[in-house]
Amino acid sequence: MKIAVASDHGGFALKEEVKKHLMERGIEVLDLGTHSEDSVDYPIYGKACGEAVMSGKADLGVVVCGTGIGISIAANKVKGIRCGLCTSVEMARLAKQHNNANVLALGGRTTEMDLAMEIVDTWLDTEFEGGRHQRRTGLLDQM
Ligand code: RB5
Repeated sequence: MKIAVASDHGGFALKEEVKKHLMERGIEVLDLGTHSEDSVDYPIYGKACGEAVMSGKADLGVVVCGTGIGISIAANKVKGIRCGLCTSVEMARLAKQHNNANVLALGGRTTEMDLAMEIVDTWLDTEFEGGRHQRRTGLLDQM
């Protein structure tokens, strides 16, 4: 399992923690930047993460900006990406169970570190339910 991580400056600190957390779980991480708190443009990083997942360079992705909003919008512009911005454990569970989110978005300035790690773990450890949800994700993937 390899996970691509990417952030802008607003998500840098949380992205670094997510990276450590994933590596502690024995997951290989592909870090697409950014690599400091210098101001950068989140669309570049959201797109890079989406493309890494769709090209098969990574199995899944985690993107982080200040709120998670901008970078999730960017990731979702890549055809086939189902990026869910999660602010609770319940949302993380449903993002996988119902939406089979292949990219998770987090807000570095809006979600506490400990909660963010619980969100990551829940998203990783939850299975996609399939069935009627498969039909819906199929419709999304055609867009
Ligand atoms: C950057 O200041 C901030 O706008 C960005 O991190 C993000 O929150 C955008 O959605």
